[in-house]
Amino acid sequence: METIIKKTNEADAIKLASEILKKGGLVAFPTETVYGLGGDALRPEASMDIYKAKGRPSDNPLIVHIADTKDVYKLAENVSSKAEALMEAFWPGPMTLIFNKKELVPKETTGGLNTVAIRMPSHPDAARLIRESGVYIAAPSANTSGRPSPSTAEHVIEDLNGKIDMILDGGPVGIGIESTIVDMTGEIPTICRPGFITKKMLESIIGEVEIDKALISPDKNLHPKAPGMKYTHYAPHGQLYIVESEKDESVVTDEVISKINSLVEEKTNEGYKVAVLTTKDKMSSYKCENIILLGEKGDGTTVASRLYAALRECDTIKADFIYSEGFNRDDFGGAIMNRLIKSAGHKVILV
Ligand code: TXA
Ligand code: MG
Repeated sequence: METIIKKTNEADAIKLASEILKKGGLVAFPTETVYGLGGDALRPEASMDIYKAKGRPSDNPLIVHIADTKDVYKLAENVSSKAEALMEAFWPGPMTLIFNKKELVPKETTGGLNTVAIRMPSHPDAARLIRESGVYIAAPSANTSGRPSPSTAEHVIEDLNGKIDMILDGGPVGIGIESTIVDMTGEIPTICRPGFITKKMLESIIGEVEIDKALISPDKNLHPKAPGMKYTHYAPHGQLYIVESEKDESVVTDEVISKINSLVEEKTNEGYKVAVLTTKDKMSSYKCENIILLGEKGDGTTVASRLYAALRECDTIKADFIYSEGFNRDDFGGAIMNRLIKSAGHKVILV
């Protein structure tokens, strides 16, 4: 299949993408979090095609993107006043809410579940695409399953060129990691995936919010509420290790630096290609041929926006071993570390 690639500001780009969606085709498009791979959420075949293009297991449900709050009531049952308060506070924006689904939403879109995940993105191109097409857009991240999510149109092209009808290029995304997912179906709202909208921000609006225990417990028998969180994700092909100080994981101590340098030396001597993931202020401390920057320490937004691009760079240079500094786990930092630790398959070296 030939994939049409157009910049979102080209004449008729969004119009053409809308026509494709209306006919049941697939279009990748920018959102404020990561690029999405969109299809008509109400057509079972479109959802099946999304799974096929991504190589994703079809028990992993998709997020339905809307452009108007009132559409929630067409897709979801029992929208609580807490959910309404969150929608009012954080939509449009990087927050996905899970509700009991209405009959209208096909099981193919929800991975067989009776619930549906809904999000109203704030990216102007995404909002225009939903409005102009008149389609509720089912969209997972626009990457091949298992690879880091795409934060630029180039990443989407790497993974999906030739497999989908169209890619809309709206430039690099703003946030860089996926939306916060909150399950609203239980007594106490529960975070199933951390993101830019933090627990504190949610609690400032609705009071008590829980975090899915499977996300924080080392117990492998707990099943995450968001089926997608059980898969190895975001992983580069090389072996990624996080090196942190035992005393304070958010501080890159001299011990951390010398540990990383000695690991780099050891693996380089064994003939492997090695990379170091670090931030601007520490980059000159490392003796490694491949230093990959993750933004600025203490500014989570710059780290998040670079994270997936950095992991993809590790693949581009074919790194066998990758050593990364850790980051603090407060607020948004917790969402970043959730992704980094998953990428590393939980390989953390404490010094
Ligand atoms: O920021 C985002 O959310 C991006 C952009 C494109 O909007 N989308 C995204 O989609 O990250 P995806 O498919 O890569 O991740 C969706 C996650 C998966 O972990 C999935 O299991 C979970 O949402 N999910 C979807 N529907 C669910 C449901 N009904 N119940 C529980 N988890 C659900
Ligand atoms: Mg994804």
